[in-house]
Amino acid sequence: MAEIAVILAAGKGVRMKSNLPKVMHKVAGQPMVLHVVTAARRAGLNRAVLVVGHGREQLENELADRGLEFVVQDEQLGTGHALMQAERLIAPSDTVMVLCGDTPLLRAETLQALLEHHRGQGATATVLSTRLSDPTGYGRIVRDREGRLERIVEEKDAPPEIKAIDEINSGLYCFQGQAVFEALKEIKPDNAQGEYYLTDVLPVMIKNGLQVEVFLHSDAEEVHGINDRIQLAYAEKVLRRRKNQELMRNGVSMMDPDSTFIDMQVEVGPDTLIYPFTFIEGNTRIGSNCVIGPGTHIIDSVIGDGVRIERSKLLECEIGEGCNIGPFGYIRPGTVLKRGVKVGDFVEIKKSVIDEGSKVPHLAYVGDAQVGKRVNIGAGTITCNYDGKNKYVTVIEDDAFIGSNTNLVAPVKIGRGATTGAGSTITKEVPAETLAVERARQKNIGGWAKRKNQAHDEG
Ligand code: UD1
Ligand code: CA
Repeated sequence: MAEIAVILAAGKGVRMKSNLPKVMHKVAGQPMVLHVVTAARRAGLNRAVLVVGHGREQLENELADRGLEFVVQDEQLGTGHALMQAERLIAPSDTVMVLCGDTPLLRAETLQALLEHHRGQGATATVLSTRLSDPTGYGRIVRDREGRLERIVEEKDAPPEIKAIDEINSGLYCFQGQAVFEALKEIKPDNAQGEYYLTDVLPVMIKNGLQVEVFLHSDAEEVHGINDRIQLAYAEKVLRRRKNQELMRNGVSMMDPDSTFIDMQVEVGPDTLIYPFTFIEGNTRIGSNCVIGPGTHIIDSVIGDGVRIERSKLLECEIGEGCNIGPFGYIRPGTVLKRGVKVGDFVEIKKSVIDEGSKVPHLAYVGDAQVGKRVNIGAGTITCNYDGKNKYVTVIEDDAFIGSNTNLVAPVKIGRGATTGAGSTITKEVPAETLAVERARQKNIGGWAKRKNQAHDEG
């Protein structure tokens, strides 16, 4: 006997006005359907079946490595018809939790409470309801005089007295497996939309003497379905607020959570302080005691403890303990900064490893380089790593000193403890402990200013 989540996600989502299937639109950095999957998993449901239709190739491709099972609903004939497609994956004794792929705000705790209520009551079906001040668009919960569920009526089928009901169907249910698939065989598409409504299994079960429960949930925010981009933006706000609150509860400081944007999967250690206008995205992990921002954008990166990053962009890189970056650093994919590295203002680093204690303090481009320990790279230094066709590596060994405005024409190596004179264009290896200077000798021409002025007066 297993508990299985079936997530309905075959609809087109016309109101999104998009080529992307609705449930693939991202909220807080993740397709909305993945928020639903995560909630189901955290509630202890060990299998998740996705019913797909519109844009199914895209869903199956992009969600391929998420441990999901897919069934296809070729024609979208309604929510009841959607669940029918999953029948072959479900054993008669299983418990089925039906979810919609477009409700990313549902919490695992709520799913758990629903499951417990369902089990505790020994119900055949339990539907999660809530009260909304504006119930427009939702199915209404119609109860009998004793307060037991009678049926659910869709907005489009509802006469005015039913439209006046403020208790709505969240679209989230628990079912006893065998009973729901038997009841589905009895429903008919005789309604305003000509669809097989999943909600119609409930009166069928009641008629057959089975126990149907309503679980009234007090937090209306969670059941919000996303149908258009205004609701999408609302969900984004809610999820980001939740994420920030979770981090703050775990010891992260934020000067202004409203202007701090952190994706759901991101981890941040305690006593890290995040300044406003900062975006932290994707699979990023940040250590403790860091100061991040203001105005910083970090994507898919690992940041050690005690790192300071100001007004910088970091993408797919690894930053060691105690590094100091910015303002205005640009750290690109494949970069590894070891412990205590300084990357200062207007510096770009790409696919380079910079070892402990080295410094690139100002205005430099370091690409495809291996830089040793305690190296100083002067202002204006450029690794000339590209000849128009191929990329080449620059090696700078421990304790080297690269003078300001040096061009390092790769492939090239600067030996241990070597120095390059400011303004040099280095094309050949510099041996260890050596000074390399490559520039024309300075000529001083005396009286030049006077002669220049005379030429002006005569001309
Ligand atoms: C449904 C409920 C309504 C409830 C509301 C909650 C029914 C008949 N109505 O209405 O009572 O208040 O959800 O949000 O169930 N889907 C499919 N295949 C289909 C049709 C829908 O997979 O053939 C999927 C959609 O992709 C979506 C979900 O089912 O994820 C809900 O469908 P939607 O059309 O949005 O249902 P509502 O009209 O909102
Ligand atoms: Ca909906």
